[in-house]
Amino acid sequence: MSLVSMNEILPAARKAGRAIGAFNAANYETAVAIIKAAEAEKSPVILQLYSRLFGNGKAEALGGLLIRLAEKCSQPVAVHMDHGESIEQVRNALSWGYTSVMLDGSRLPFAENVAVTSEAVALAHAVGASAEGEIGHVAMGDATALSDVEETCRFAAATKVDALAVSIGTAHGYYKQTPKLDLELCRQIGERLPGLPLVLHGGTGTPLEDVQKAITLGITKINIATEFQHTFLKAVQADLEAANGNFIPVDKFMDAPIERCAEHLRKLIRAFALR
Ligand code: 13P
Repeated sequence: MSLVSMNEILPAARKAGRAIGAFNAANYETAVAIIKAAEAEKSPVILQLYSRLFGNGKAEALGGLLIRLAEKCSQPVAVHMDHGESIEQVRNALSWGYTSVMLDGSRLPFAENVAVTSEAVALAHAVGASAEGEIGHVAMGDATALSDVEETCRFAAATKVDALAVSIGTAHGYYKQTPKLDLELCRQIGERLPGLPLVLHGGTGTPLEDVQKAITLGITKINIATEFQHTFLKAVQADLEAANGNFIPVDKFMDAPIERCAEHLRKLIRAFALR
């Protein structure tokens, strides 16, 4: 049984100077690929779902599956709500057994972000779960508001978050231009908050070399969604074309895309562990 919160995974990783992959699943197949990769690499992993799925009923049904997969995995697995939009979503996620939640108040004024994030942290801690917050704003597309060092430190102290997403130059989704990480900003935040696992959102398309430098400066959780889900879709498309109109039962058909996605994630897990 290895369903855990992020607190059983991230502080030790931060101490060891490595990072853990947090991959966004969206269905059975992507969730199984994540677990298979963790098993094969003998590495902890964070299985997360977009908050969109918490608003449309999918996260409740999928939650049971994710939790069962985590319990059966030989490696520590946290089941996490990514970018929670409201306290109601936090309450729902915790009541469905998610072991970790993010409340994303990064578009709110500072005081409101502190207030709503603190409430999420208290709710999570009351049931032994972990909580992530965000300061500065990692946007969709290329417009991003970098974190401010002083504000980041005040936010961490006031909210007592277990993991803190910082904005150091990444954005969600594919980039039009290769992003340039502000590693000096990352270094300053990492030095001021030596025990706190920092989170890098927008992993897709961010040069791995820069990600690895950021890991040495305190980034401990790397979020990957777009490129992983696209890897799955492209594998399905290629295999469907190869089947040439012949019917293959869905469960059998999906085995190969799952394997290819797991192989892809294994490389990322190794890279984040600086192996
Ligand atoms: P990408 O889709 O850019 O990989 O970002 C993932 C993410 O940060 C999820 O919160």
